[in-house]
Amino acid sequence: MPLRLQSGAAGAIEAAAQRLAAGGLVGMPTETVYGLAARADDAQAVRRIFAAKGRPADHPLIVHLAPATIAGAPGWRDAVAPFASQVPEFAVALMQACWPGPLTLILPRRPEVAAAAAGGQDSIGLRCPAHPVAQSLLIAAQAAGVAGVAAPSANRFGRVSPTTAQHVSEEFADLGYDELLILDGGACPVGIESTIVDATRGAPVLLRPGAITAAQIEAITGLSLKLRDEASPRASGTLASHYAPRAKVRLMPAQQLQAALDVLGADAKNIAVYARTALRAGRGVVLRRMPDDAQRAAHELFAVMRELDATGVPLIWVETPPADSAWAGVSDRLHRAAA
Ligand code: TXA
Ligand code: MG
Repeated sequence: MPLRLQSGAAGAIEAAAQRLAAGGLVGMPTETVYGLAARADDAQAVRRIFAAKGRPADHPLIVHLAPATIAGAPGWRDAVAPFASQVPEFAVALMQACWPGPLTLILPRRPEVAAAAAGGQDSIGLRCPAHPVAQSLLIAAQAAGVAGVAAPSANRFGRVSPTTAQHVSEEFADLGYDELLILDGGACPVGIESTIVDATRGAPVLLRPGAITAAQIEAITGLSLKLRDEASPRASGTLASHYAPRAKVRLMPAQQLQAALDVLGADAKNIAVYARTALRAGRGVVLRRMPDDAQRAAHELFAVMRELDATGVPLIWVETPPADSAWAGVSDRLHRAAA
């Protein structure tokens, strides 16, 4: 079993920072989801991430940065300078408005740094997380000589991202206490992964929707956001099938969902339903109410998927979320879970 430490326990942050410095793996809580962290400047440490996740080594990882010590734009420019060879003004505006926070920026990479973490791409994904535990860890790691921390979501490739330390522990139960240290920082407040904006193509391109919405990005940059296209880099979070529980997920509008439940009638079983609308179903159906608020829905989404999966049902029927842009992140994850 991995070693699990309460993030507030004496010496926990320092122990985790030492693991990172020594090239080991740390389960790191962030405001979005838990990350599987290793030092970004050590190709062997980064290979441990890919091996543990079962992720193809050409899928790039996000590098997490400690908060800037100087306030405002100059601080953020300094923070990204060791990794990024060029930083457009709109990216600086996004850092100032959204960092620390749930936004990842893809920037042109300095060819000599973090090649393994970048999965061989000529760009690099950078993010400064807002979670106090992640920040303490990144600051302590920096003091121990670790400039940036590569961390994908701490789940096996293609599976649902973890939002609690328990989830991380379950995903990597086969790793020993000396192979993975998990810092328990409680449940992640946001609950879905960061918004990803490609800043390598002159104008911002949305690669993955998240808590920071398209409308916010356009308001901050004063530019219209392009959607990903053929020229966009591959990102595993953008594969059609991803974030998938074991059960088969199907999305349906409320009316269709109710009609399908009516057909099954009182004997219906082996189905879980996750819907905002109150529905009638047989007693054998696991009914779970989705919050009406997009942020609350995001916060619990992956934990609910895991819970419903754990009931052993082969089918999860989910009510299609509203088309509203506030729901784009939740909607994206559900469509990929259903693909
Ligand atoms: O919220 C998050 O972003 C979490 C926490 C731990 O920070 N991390 C996360 O990492 O979701 P991951 O690896 O599961 O998803 C990152 C996504 C992947 O789809 C990856 O392909 C993409 O970011 N990505 C990273 N670097 C990239 C690059 N240079 N170019 C294009 N896509 C990149
Ligand atoms: Mg992931």
